[in-house]
Amino acid sequence: MSNNKLTVIDRQGSTHDLEWEPDQTLMEALRDNDLPVLASCGGTASCATCHVFVEKEVFDTLGERSEDELELLVEAEGYRECGSRLSCQLGFSRHLDGATVTLAPEE
Ligand code: FES
Repeated sequence: MSNNKLTVIDRQGSTHDLEWEPDQTLMEALRDNDLPVLASCGGTASCATCHVFVEKEVFDTLGERSEDELELLVEAEGYRECGSRLSCQLGFSRHLDGATVTLAPEE
């Protein structure tokens, strides 16, 4: 079974390499690797504490954000029109293999 590799930059600017199992959302992969993602709503797109920034080239390949996701994100700390995603709404994707994801500021 192949694992998706990902580089994560935390809120202190430190870099972490992690593996992402195909049956996880990105939020679950971050949490399972002890990154400080609160995910207080449990992945139902209603808290924005799983907010991450995705590089623009990758962001453009991920498809549209849902209305719910976008509504939460525009109110979130540090929102980026091209880059902000809720990690709980991102499933395993070959486009994210090898990508760098940055944790957004805490709410
Ligand atoms: S975990 Fe709450 S919005 Fe993603």
